[in-house]
Amino acid sequence: MDERMPRADAVGDASDTGDSPILVTGGTGTLGRLVVERLVEAGRKVRVLSRRLPDASAGVPTHPAVEHVAADLESGDGIDAAVAGIHTIVHLAGSSTGDELKARNLVHAASAAHATHLVYISVVGADRIPVVTKTDRNMFGYFEQKRAAELVISESGIPFTTLRATQFQELVWVVTGMMAKLPVIPLPRGLRVQPVAAAEVADRLAELAQGEPRGLVPDVAGPRIYNAADLLRGYLRAVGKHRVIVPIGLPGKAAKAMLAGANLSPERAVGTGTWEEFVAERTTATTDETEGVRNRYATPQTV
Ligand SMILES: NC(=O)c1ccc[n+]([C@@H]2O[C@H](COP(=O)([O-])OP(=O)(O)OC[C@H]3O[C@@H](n4cnc5c(N)ncnc54)[C@H](OP(=O)(O)O)[C@@H]3O)[C@@H](O)[C@H]2O)c1
Repeated sequence: MDERMPRADAVGDASDTGDSPILVTGGTGTLGRLVVERLVEAGRKVRVLSRRLPDASAGVPTHPAVEHVAADLESGDGIDAAVAGIHTIVHLAGSSTGDELKARNLVHAASAAHATHLVYISVVGADRIPVVTKTDRNMFGYFEQKRAAELVISESGIPFTTLRATQFQELVWVVTGMMAKLPVIPLPRGLRVQPVAAAEVADRLAELAQGEPRGLVPDVAGPRIYNAADLLRGYLRAVGKHRVIVPIGLPGKAAKAMLAGANLSPERAVGTGTWEEFVAERTTATTDETEGVRNRYATPQTV
């Protein structure tokens, strides 16, 4: 355990009585919409923060317990209004770059608003993938940003809970789909992935958001570890495509750590939904059915 990521003794007392809304940043994203759904089902009011408001013209269903506010966590626009009157914040807004800045701006506003619990989603490997050179950063700068954001939160003075998750099956699906557009697919030799259902991460986050601040909590990881090439082959089989996969080497210390399994959490394989089940569901559900479930309370997808 990193001494800068304390557990319960250093995280204080939350005074969320359940009356004020829970602020979910990134509540329109893949993970966020699932967390919002669970909090609403638990009887909580939710305020969703994202840059874009739901597009009513797209006919997206809304829910009376959910209000949407527009704010940009990188520019700072709108954050003060978004955190006003909030005790608990679930910080899920993220992108491939800039998560340290987002956390910094959020923490600044949340401290001024006297927030009492900040729940953060990070990624397994954030503390184990050394990002030193430009090459490291070009490939794995995301992990560096997640680690920096973790530290901004743990050092903020706001009682916090940080959960690290492995890659979501939804992300793996999107990435493999993008790769499958290539006639020949270069894939890092030896790369392994432990995909987890975003819904299972959302279950845990919703539970954590309604509890006391706990500092760094144990990871949530998928039930099985796969070679990335096998995941890709599974996807190609399911969608009926044939592609040549070319194993490539990756340079640098960050890549070495990744290939050694820094992105995996075998001892925390608590997720139950497998990649095979996910692929089967995706390839048999009609688009309408899938989108219907995924859009219950939220806006159009960003990934
Ligand atoms: N995907 C994975 O495999 C994985 C694994 C572990 C951890 N995580 C973490 O889980 C979180 C959610 O991931 P996801 O895959 O659900 O992401 P996502 O689908 O891309 O959703 C990102 C959300 O963040 C909002 N957002 C992005 N930039 C923003 C900004 N500058 N200000 C305000 N809102 C902003 C987006 O809405 P707008 O675009 O409208 O602003 C959207 O609601 C991220 O923090 C990610 O690092 C993801």
